[in-house]
Amino acid sequence: MKITFAEATLPATGTLVLGVGQNRQLSETGRVLDERTGGAVTRAMEAARFAGKTDDVLTLLAPANLELERLLLVGLGEAEKITDLSWQRFGAAIVAALATSGAQDAFVPVELPATSTDVSSANVAAQIALGAQLRAYRFDKYRTTQKKDKKPTLKKLHLLSADHNAARHAFERYDHVAEGVSLTRDLVSEPANVLTPVTLAERCEALAGKGLTVEVLDEKRLNKLGMGALLGVAQGSAQPARLVVLRWNGAPEAAEQAPLAFVGKGVTFDSGGISIKAAAGMEDMKWDMAGAAVVVGLMTVLANRKARVNAIGIIALVENMPSASAQRPGDVVTSASGQTIEVINTDAEGRLVLADALWYAQEHAKPRLIVDLATLTGAIIVALGSDQAGLFSNDDELAERLTRSGIKTGEPVWRMPLGDSYDKEINSDIADVKNVAANRNAGSIIGAQFLKRFIRDGMPWAHLDIAGVTWSKKDEGVVPKGGTGFGVRLLDRLVQDYYEA
Ligand code: BES
Ligand code: MN
Ligand code: ZN
Repeated sequence: MKITFAEATLPATGTLVLGVGQNRQLSETGRVLDERTGGAVTRAMEAARFAGKTDDVLTLLAPANLELERLLLVGLGEAEKITDLSWQRFGAAIVAALATSGAQDAFVPVELPATSTDVSSANVAAQIALGAQLRAYRFDKYRTTQKKDKKPTLKKLHLLSADHNAARHAFERYDHVAEGVSLTRDLVSEPANVLTPVTLAERCEALAGKGLTVEVLDEKRLNKLGMGALLGVAQGSAQPARLVVLRWNGAPEAAEQAPLAFVGKGVTFDSGGISIKAAAGMEDMKWDMAGAAVVVGLMTVLANRKARVNAIGIIALVENMPSASAQRPGDVVTSASGQTIEVINTDAEGRLVLADALWYAQEHAKPRLIVDLATLTGAIIVALGSDQAGLFSNDDELAERLTRSGIKTGEPVWRMPLGDSYDKEINSDIADVKNVAANRNAGSIIGAQFLKRFIRDGMPWAHLDIAGVTWSKKDEGVVPKGGTGFGVRLLDRLVQDYYEA
């Protein structure tokens, strides 16, 4: 689907979209059309009990006295409560209603409710476009047939406003964001026979250019670096491990400015290893590389929009499989940090992989802060469900900034505690640390405490447990069913609001 920004002249034919405020508040265009149709718009809203609430939609086909094929009314909710996110949701609702409706072109006059102040119509147009683009995402590459009525028809969304040049300019930035989210969703949706550590690393290499540099470390290098924790997970798989480093140096006159480090868990399939998972739902574990996919999506956004910041993305790629060469419960491995780890449960593999990646980030990037993302624990789903990601941090300022960025972008995170009483649960009888506690209590916190053992004192660090928010079982707002790309918009905003020169 393409988005265009054009002069505010209404089309005579095709599909026209009208935003309607709570209690059937029509826009200027709405009132004109209601009059021209002899009140058909108002009568239709009353007949359908359409009130203009968020997500409400109502279609009038071939309305009398107009040449239009369709008039689509979309609810905006209470005018006083409308934010950027509401406009994104509005754009998404338009796409949801029209994607397979038969309409090829849709025209949306950008009109602000009278009560909303302090917003530019160009920004509103850009937000609508972002929401539309995010919702229009599809992963169809493996369909060889599709029923005619399921095929998308909507080709172009035309946003109409007087300041269309400013709107187009405002959207440029969000267009890059939508592209990054799509890339992340693509990677998360790929099956594990296609996306392995090697092929994911190759896809990263293909992104190099335009200032983004990509370095791939193979097993020989990882061995030299002493990454026994990461390699221990990979040793049960026929697929060799990789660590990929993506760099973006966009801070002007500050090549020496320490980078922000983003670290992602990239388990391309998590069978559990010898501590094997149950069969039901195991297919979900193809998206156990979502943390890595978010880092890749984010780094491309930063590079494409030329963010004035230095950033480094580090993704640790392995497949967790059971085999004759797999690591066993009770094995002791030595991590790159030198700390020894007793592997009690081979299904708690993400923390093992991240231990070495986090250490690499500190040793080789000397970052000013680290944010890691991982589908780390089922326990975070029990705690927070699928609306908010778990946030763990040793730094109040960083935690606060992530929380704010999450609210602004509609990717909320909820801070969870860390503490010594949790930490002592992972003391091992024979090694420096063990990878699980003796029971299932506070599972997500235990996972975070384990990671914290590999963070040096004084290094600002945050861990986002995205196990619950990575995959959506239903269409919802700007997120279609499937991979959500959760984290890309949040971290892009974090960078923009707090770290760009
Ligand atoms: N990848 C899983 C966590 C997960 C579960 C992500 C469900 C998404 C949906 C992780 O590697 C794992 O298996 N964690 C274990 C940890 C346990 C063994 C301490 C879990 O959550 O059961
Ligand atoms: Mn696991
Ligand atoms: Zn896992």
